[in-house]
Formats: sequence, structure tokens, C-alpha cells
Amino acid sequence: MPGLVILGAQWGDEGKGKIVDLLTEQSDGVVRFQGGNNAGHTLVVKGEKTILHLLPSGILHPKKFCLIGNGVVLDPAVFVDEIQKIKARGYLKNDKQLKISDRLHIILPYHKLIDQLREQAKGDNKIGTTGRGIGPCYEDKVARRGIRLADYISPDLFRRRLEEILPEKNLYIERVLGGRGFDLEELYQESLAHARILKNYVEDGSLFLDSQIKKKKNILFEGAQGTSLDVDYGTYPFVTSSNTSAAAASTGSGLGPKHIHQIWGVTKAYSTRVGSGPFPSELNDEKGQLLRDKGGEYGSTTGRPRRCGWLDLVILAHAIRVNSLTGLAITKLDVLAGVGRIKVCTAYKLRGKIIKSLPATVEELNACVPVYKELKGWNEPISALRSFSKLPSSLKDYLKFISDQLEIPFTLISLGPGREESLLLKKPF
Ligand code: GDP
Ligand code: IMO
Ligand code: MG
Repeated sequence: MPGLVILGAQWGDEGKGKIVDLLTEQSDGVVRFQGGNNAGHTLVVKGEKTILHLLPSGILHPKKFCLIGNGVVLDPAVFVDEIQKIKARGYLKNDKQLKISDRLHIILPYHKLIDQLREQAKGDNKIGTTGRGIGPCYEDKVARRGIRLADYISPDLFRRRLEEILPEKNLYIERVLGGRGFDLEELYQESLAHARILKNYVEDGSLFLDSQIKKKKNILFEGAQGTSLDVDYGTYPFVTSSNTSAAAASTGSGLGPKHIHQIWGVTKAYSTRVGSGPFPSELNDEKGQLLRDKGGEYGSTTGRPRRCGWLDLVILAHAIRVNSLTGLAITKLDVLAGVGRIKVCTAYKLRGKIIKSLPATVEELNACVPVYKELKGWNEPISALRSFSKLPSSLKDYLKFISDQLEIPFTLISLGPGREESLLLKKPF
């Protein structure tokens, strides 16, 4: 049984990249299955930082394959820039390491413009998207007017698709959003150079993964964003435009669920969120600022300050159920050292009633008042520790409380951003 899914259990930025990079060594390769360059996954190896937006977080391991699956939306310009940068640093020496599904959808310049113009028009009601065209691209996929990689790399097909689609896009951009439309010839010519580079990596992702399974290889599935940003089970409409949950690992890669044997949700030891939307345990005070400062909580993609708050077990219980998580990986425990007593949200009070599940509407979510359990903190620096038994006893109590409440084991504990600052508690494969 060869498949391990790593996904976000909160609102993204939980540390998925670090964990995928760490576990890649024990796998044969990594597949990204949804999202696009709204993601920013940070790896820190020997003190050197790498932020990936599209490339799977296994890319620093030359012998492991990296597949960008059909569920991802890919901006060619961002992709080309990212591979040039990683190659300049001596990685991706063999292009065969990287594969891109022929069925994934391409983000075109009009997707980005539509995303940005819509957000501007919304003013105070904006979602706070990353402005990368993610939502408009997924909309086109579902509306059956998208352009897939297989179309994009064929100049004739691509031109024909553009001729069908662009007039309607331009009308919408100009008449509804008050922007400037795109010239077909310019857009087409600009794309050709990108398409030539992309062509080197095109693969039928499903066939490729199937061949790996037949050779008994172990596969890591790398999620982007997090469960509370899932288009169905997140805090809708303040969500991203894809399913971020475990089932998307199948639909977004072309391998059925029977090949997945474990699903680990990544959570910070507290909570953060970038962009607008409900966040019941948010701290709008100096404690929140302390977490932001100590945790370096500024977005890897947009640099925006992340909103910070206490750990929320209602959010995590939701993630455990929606994804059928088999374990939790917890990151950033080092950030909590020295912050004093620690609170954990165990339930919400909504109109006088205690609830332990997430209401479906933003109005109700915003009315939820967190119910907290207060626990003892710890002051010792922990990043250098390499055995569970050496962790401060109040940290162990913190972990035990969470694990008991949620009835789920911790599979991995992260004590710092570096690859080696981790305690692996369960074999991934
Ligand atoms: P992702 O989107 O889930 O991959 O997470 P990001 O990379 O956007 O954000 C996580 C941030 O936390 C990055 O800057 C990581 O280097 C950092 N990080 C990951 N794990 C730890 C940890 O255990 N401790 C600390 N201090 N930082 C961590
Ligand atoms: P990683 O993979 C955190 C948020 C945006 C916004 C909402 C919708 O690094 O965890 P979008 O551009 O997707 O239409 O924006 O989703 N968002 C993320 N927040 N981490 C991410 O990715 C995110 N990707 C999108 O801030 O609130
Ligand atoms: Mg991130």
C-alpha cells in the first residue's frame, strides 16, 4: 500500500512543504494534486531557504520523481521562472525528474486580470485572493472553456481554442469589469515560447503513476492550501477554488483511492490565516502580534501578514473527518516556547449553545465565540532536541491533550524550519 497524502488541516501555510521535503527521502516521488501558484511551500535545507509555488516539494532530491498532477492549475510564466531559478542553483539537472500532466489547466493572463479586477471591485468584501488567477482558471475548467496543457503545447489547437474563448473573455473584462482586453495575436505569440519549454515535461500523469505502482514504488501526494480553504468544506465563500481535501489526491493525480494508505494532516501548534473570512480563535491583540513576530508569520507567496490565533480543535476535528486523517503532523511548537500560558479552543458558543462542529454559514461562523482550555506553557528552546523523551513535560502534556481530545495520533513533530528539526513518530511507508 504505497500512498501517503500530506495536506493542510487549517487555512494553509501549516508547513506542508517542509514535511513533504523531509519525507521525500523515504518515498520514490511526489505528486502535487491541486492548487496553483497561490501556494508557497518553504523548505529549509542546511540553512538555505527555497520557496516553491508549483514544483512539488521533492524537487531538492534529484533521484525522486516530481509530478505536477492534472488537478493543478499552472501559470506558464511562473513555471518557467521557477525552473530557471531552481536549475541555476544546481537542481533539476535531469529534466526527466519532473513531469507535468497533459490534462492540467493553464492559467492565462486574462485569468489573472479577472481575479484582480474582481477583487478591486469588491472593496471591503474582497476574499483576499492571491490575485494569481486561480479561481477564474478553475471556473473555466468546470465551464468547459479551459485550455489544457495538451492543447497549449500544440500551436494550432491552442490558437483555435483562443479564437473560441478570447472574444467572450474580452467582452467580460471590458464591459463588466472595466478593464482592457487582450490582443489575440500578442497573447498567442507570448505563449509559444513558454509552450516550447513546457513540452519537455508533458506526461500522462495517470499512466505514469500507474507504472510506479506496478513497480511497488512509494508515492507522496502533496496538498496545497488547507481544509478550511476547501471549496466544499472550507469557510465558504472565503475559500480557494479547488478541493484541498484528501479525495482530491485521487482526482487530481489520476490514481484511485485504493492506492492511498495514510493521510496526514499538517497543523501548526497555533492557527493562522491569510486573506479575509471567519477565524473564531483569532487574536487581535499583542499575543497575536507576538505569535506573528516569533513565527515569522508573513505569507510565502504575497508577503501579507498572516492573521494569528490559538489552536482550534473544532477546525481540526472537521479536518480529521473530512479527510479521514490517519495522523497529525504538528509544526512550529518552537514558536510557542516562552509565550506564557497557552490556550486551545475546544468548542464554540453560538447563541448560548455549545457546539463542536462548524456551522455552514459565514454569519454563524462569525458569531461563534471560542471556548478555551488553558494549558501550561514551556520556556526552553526545543529546536535542537532529537528525541521525544527530551521534550519539556508541559509540551508533552499539550500534545497529549490535543491527541486525546481529537482521538488521533501525532505522526510527526516539527521543532524548527530546518529539515532535520523534526521527530518522526511513525513510518510513512
Ligand atoms: P506550507 O504552505 O504549508 O508549505 O507552509 P509555508 O512554507 O507557507 O509556511 C510555513 C512556514 O513555517 C515556513 O516559513 C517554514 O519554513 C516554517 N516552518 C515549518 N515548520 C516549522 C517549525 O516547526 N518551526 C518553525 N519555527 N518554522 C517552521
Ligand atoms: P499554501 O499551499 C494560505 C488563500 C488566500 C485567500 C483564499 C483564496 O501555501 O498553504 P486564491 O488565490 O486561492 O483564490 O485565494 O485562499 N490562500 C492561501 N492561504 N496558504 C495558501 O497556500 C493559500 N492559497 C490560497 O489568501 O484567502
Ligand atoms: Mg504556504
